[in-house]
Amino acid sequence: MEILSSLIREINSFKKMQIKPCKGIKGSITVSGAKNSALPLLAASLLVEELTLENFPFLLDTLYGLEILKRLGKEIEINPSEGWVKIGGEIEDITVPFEISSLFRGSVLFLGGLLGGCGKARVSYPGGCAIGSRPIDQHLKFLEHIGASLEVEGGYIKAQLRDEPANQNFSFDLITVTGTENALLTLAGMEGEFILENVALEPEVGDLINFLRRLGVRIENDGRILRIISPGRENLRKSLTYKVIPDRIEAGTYLVLGTLLGEPLKVKNLNPDHLGVVIQKLTEAGANLKIEGDTITVWRAETLKPLYIETSPYPGFPTDMQAQFTAMLSIAAGTSFIVENIFENRFQHTFELNRMGANIVIKGNTAIVKGVKRLRGAPVKATDLRASAALVIAGLIAEGETLIHHIHHLLRGYEGMDKKLQKLGCEVYLIR
Ligand code: EPU
Repeated sequence: MEILSSLIREINSFKKMQIKPCKGIKGSITVSGAKNSALPLLAASLLVEELTLENFPFLLDTLYGLEILKRLGKEIEINPSEGWVKIGGEIEDITVPFEISSLFRGSVLFLGGLLGGCGKARVSYPGGCAIGSRPIDQHLKFLEHIGASLEVEGGYIKAQLRDEPANQNFSFDLITVTGTENALLTLAGMEGEFILENVALEPEVGDLINFLRRLGVRIENDGRILRIISPGRENLRKSLTYKVIPDRIEAGTYLVLGTLLGEPLKVKNLNPDHLGVVIQKLTEAGANLKIEGDTITVWRAETLKPLYIETSPYPGFPTDMQAQFTAMLSIAAGTSFIVENIFENRFQHTFELNRMGANIVIKGNTAIVKGVKRLRGAPVKATDLRASAALVIAGLIAEGETLIHHIHHLLRGYEGMDKKLQKLGCEVYLIR
């Protein structure tokens, strides 16, 4: 148990990242388990007595998730070197406190996990964040619709389920990833049949669906409609071992790097089916990619071509890859247009890229990226998770040294990026 606190302390002790220019990258890099799958699976551990998660990514957000489970009474065993965690025991408390839920947005998933696992929850209301206001009205609308009693008091959401849902179907007003996951987690614990409409189809939602199926919940899907038939929490499987899917956003980040510097770069342990539009856009930019099983080899683009990109829910272009592509296109041979349709404030990285010599203008929800010959290293500030990945990419292709401040954003969502890049010969160092 002590290992968990000391890992969190250790990762949080890093304040900056120093990056030296890199002329080319040759070798292979291995993708970790998906952060955004591991989080709902941690919440789902509240539905079982014993769960082992394999291919588990050890990064700040998932460690915070484990810390929440610990506070809810679960026993945790972790093995970072072998990449697994074991979560066991009963739910002894239903409160997810502010001091931990305020650290990461994924904490909202414990609302669904607790409701599925024991029918009641008291979860600190997640705040806004750097990329947008991120309301949870759809999560709450769903709960009201199924007849849960809801109270918001002192910044906490208190929710309690009835024995049976008040209605048999619900349609989301917009597509929400964690909203869909929270509904699935809640319904998994309730006996009966339910239809969810306009759901998110992100592979991480698919991973949770596969997990719940393994627990004994019947889930049928037809496009954005899900039919969920649960035998009720008492009749679910009690113990399970499950392997987290590869992180498509981490994979995409390294594929962008390969497009800029690959001589070639092999990105291993990914699922190419989850990367369709990312692969398509990298190819359009001039990268050469070879897909073989769970590995993609990428040779750098001879001439980097500009792109038109619009973010949209899966299977569209992921908002979580927008910042990394913006960094790449800042040195393309021409002008790119990048439209951000998911979050209203997800262009913070462009101001830092401009400080490195990029030429990016924001007009409404579009970034107009005029390619420049080269970027120059500079002290910059990470503003959110994917923004910090964009700055790492920019630092590696820039002339001169880059120092990224507020690096905890990166450490929230990338497992051992410094070590992985060092193995490829890059000079990337975390500094306390
Ligand atoms: N929205 C609402 N009301 C709601 C829920 C969402 O208006 O009740 C809006 C949001 O403000 C946003 C849009 O709907 O404009 C989509 O948000 P969504 O709910 O899908 O985002 P999320 O579930 O909070 C997850 C990922 C994000 C990723 C988005 C979009 C997790 C833990 N987080 O967030 O990941 O960007 O889906 O794909 O799964 C990241 O990993 O860097 C990250 C931010």
